[in-house]
Amino acid sequence: MIKKIDHIAIAVQNLESALETFRNVLGCAPGAIRIEEVASEKVRVGFITIGESKIELLEPMSDDSPIAKFLAKNGEGMHHIALATDDIEKETDRLLSVNIHPLSLPKDGAGGKKIMFLHPKETNKVLLEFAQKQHQPIEDKAACNQ
Ligand code: CO
Repeated sequence: MIKKIDHIAIAVQNLESALETFRNVLGCAPGAIRIEEVASEKVRVGFITIGESKIELLEPMSDDSPIAKFLAKNGEGMHHIALATDDIEKETDRLLSVNIHPLSLPKDGAGGKKIMFLHPKETNKVLLEFAQKQHQPIEDKAACNQ
Protein backbone atom coordinates (compact mmCIF):
# COMPACT_ATOMS: atom_id res chain seq x y z
CA MET A 1 0.00 0.00 0.00
CA ILE A 2 1.12 3.58 -0.66
CA LYS A 3 1.30 5.44 2.68
CA LYS A 4 2.34 9.02 1.96
CA ILE A 5 4.64 11.23 -0.06
CA ASP A 6 8.04 10.37 1.44
CA HIS A 7 10.06 13.07 -0.27
CA ILE A 8 10.35 15.43 -3.19
CA ALA A 9 13.78 15.42 -4.82
CA ILE A 10 15.55 18.31 -6.49
CA ALA A 11 18.71 18.03 -8.60
CA VAL A 12 21.34 20.64 -7.69
CA GLN A 13 24.85 21.57 -8.83
CA ASN A 14 26.17 22.37 -5.34
CA LEU A 15 24.68 20.62 -2.32
CA GLU A 16 26.05 22.96 0.38
CA SER A 17 24.77 26.06 -1.36
CA ALA A 18 21.36 24.48 -2.07
CA LEU A 19 21.06 23.29 1.55
CA GLU A 20 21.73 26.80 2.78
CA THR A 21 19.09 28.19 0.43
CA PHE A 22 16.44 25.68 1.50
CA ARG A 23 17.37 25.99 5.16
CA ASN A 24 16.82 29.73 4.91
CA VAL A 25 13.60 29.32 2.92
CA LEU A 26 12.21 26.83 5.46
CA GLY A 27 13.70 28.47 8.56
CA CYS A 28 15.35 25.33 9.92
CA ALA A 29 18.32 24.83 12.22
CA PRO A 30 21.56 23.40 10.74
CA GLY A 31 20.96 20.25 12.83
CA ALA A 32 17.79 19.46 10.87
CA ILE A 33 19.86 18.36 7.86
CA ARG A 34 21.36 14.96 7.14
CA ILE A 35 23.86 14.33 4.32
CA GLU A 36 24.48 10.89 2.85
CA GLU A 37 26.55 9.56 -0.05
CA VAL A 38 24.84 6.91 -2.16
CA ALA A 39 27.75 5.24 -3.95
CA SER A 40 25.55 3.06 -6.19
CA GLU A 41 23.92 6.18 -7.70
CA LYS A 42 27.05 8.37 -7.43
CA VAL A 43 25.14 11.10 -5.61
CA ARG A 44 25.44 13.09 -2.41
CA VAL A 45 22.05 13.58 -0.85
CA GLY A 46 20.93 16.23 1.61
CA PHE A 47 17.70 15.51 3.50
CA ILE A 48 15.58 18.17 5.15
CA THR A 49 12.67 16.75 7.15
CA ILE A 50 9.43 18.71 7.09
CA GLY A 51 6.74 17.04 9.18
CA GLU A 52 6.00 13.63 7.64
CA SER A 53 7.89 14.35 4.42
CA LYS A 54 11.31 15.44 3.27
CA ILE A 55 13.00 17.49 0.65
CA GLU A 56 15.90 15.56 -0.88
CA LEU A 57 18.64 17.57 -2.61
CA LEU A 58 20.73 15.55 -5.08
CA GLU A 59 24.26 16.51 -6.14
CA PRO A 60 26.24 14.34 -8.60
CA MET A 61 29.54 12.87 -7.32
CA SER A 62 30.92 12.32 -10.82
CA ASP A 63 30.19 13.11 -14.47
CA ASP A 64 28.73 9.66 -15.12
CA SER A 65 26.21 9.96 -12.29
CA PRO A 66 22.56 9.80 -13.45
CA ILE A 67 22.12 13.19 -11.73
CA ALA A 68 25.01 14.70 -13.74
CA LYS A 69 23.24 13.54 -16.91
CA PHE A 70 19.94 14.99 -15.69
CA LEU A 71 21.61 18.36 -14.90
CA ALA A 72 23.35 18.46 -18.30
CA LYS A 73 20.02 17.89 -20.04
CA ASN A 74 17.59 19.87 -17.86
CA GLY A 75 19.58 22.05 -15.49
CA GLU A 76 18.65 22.24 -11.82
CA GLY A 77 15.11 21.50 -10.72
CA MET A 78 12.51 18.93 -9.71
CA HIS A 79 13.86 15.43 -10.20
CA HIS A 80 11.38 12.99 -8.66
CA ILE A 81 8.57 12.41 -6.18
CA ALA A 82 8.97 9.47 -3.80
CA LEU A 83 6.04 7.49 -2.40
CA ALA A 84 6.43 5.51 0.82
CA THR A 85 5.12 1.96 0.68
CA ASP A 86 5.05 -0.77 3.33
CA ASP A 87 5.57 -3.57 0.78
CA ILE A 88 7.56 -2.69 -2.34
CA GLU A 89 7.45 -6.25 -3.72
CA LYS A 90 3.66 -6.28 -3.53
CA GLU A 91 3.52 -2.84 -5.17
CA THR A 92 5.78 -4.07 -7.98
CA ASP A 93 3.41 -6.99 -8.64
CA ARG A 94 0.40 -4.68 -8.48
CA LEU A 95 1.98 -2.27 -10.99
CA LEU A 96 2.86 -5.08 -13.38
CA SER A 97 -0.73 -6.34 -13.15
CA VAL A 98 -1.92 -2.97 -14.52
CA ASN A 99 0.80 -3.02 -17.19
CA ILE A 100 3.08 -0.41 -15.58
CA HIS A 101 6.73 -1.48 -15.68
CA PRO A 102 9.26 -0.28 -13.08
CA LEU A 103 12.71 0.69 -14.42
CA SER A 104 14.33 -1.96 -12.21
CA LEU A 105 13.59 -4.41 -9.46
CA PRO A 106 13.66 -2.96 -5.91
CA LYS A 107 17.25 -2.13 -4.88
CA ASP A 108 19.11 -0.45 -1.99
CA GLY A 109 18.79 3.33 -1.91
CA ALA A 110 19.41 6.30 0.36
CA GLY A 111 18.29 6.07 3.99
CA GLY A 112 18.76 2.29 3.98
CA LYS A 113 15.51 1.94 2.02
CA LYS A 114 14.50 -0.41 -0.77
CA ILE A 115 13.63 1.72 -3.79
CA MET A 116 12.53 1.45 -7.39
CA PHE A 117 11.60 3.97 -10.06
CA LEU A 118 8.92 4.24 -12.71
CA HIS A 119 9.94 5.76 -16.03
CA PRO A 120 8.43 9.26 -16.54
CA LYS A 121 6.82 8.07 -19.78
CA GLU A 122 4.54 5.88 -17.63
CA THR A 123 3.50 8.72 -15.31
CA ASN A 124 2.85 11.95 -17.20
CA LYS A 125 6.55 12.86 -17.36
CA VAL A 126 7.10 12.76 -13.58
CA LEU A 127 9.78 10.36 -12.34
CA LEU A 128 8.24 8.42 -9.44
CA GLU A 129 10.17 6.53 -6.77
CA PHE A 130 8.67 3.86 -4.55
CA ALA A 131 10.48 3.49 -1.21
CA GLN A 132 10.13 0.98 1.61
CA LYS A 133 11.78 1.32 5.01
CA GLN A 134 14.02 -1.61 5.91
CA HIS A 135 14.58 -3.24 9.29
CA GLN A 136 17.44 -0.89 10.19
CA PRO A 137 16.57 2.44 8.60
CA ILE A 138 18.96 5.38 8.84
CA GLU A 139 16.99 7.83 10.94
CA ASP A 140 16.58 11.36 9.66
CA LYS A 141 17.25 14.40 11.79
CA ALA A 142 14.55 16.16 13.74
CA ALA A 143 12.01 17.87 11.57
CA CYS A 144 12.94 21.33 10.36
CA ASN A 145 9.74 22.78 11.80
CA GLN A 146 10.07 21.45 15.37
CO1 CO B 1 14.51 9.82 -3.77
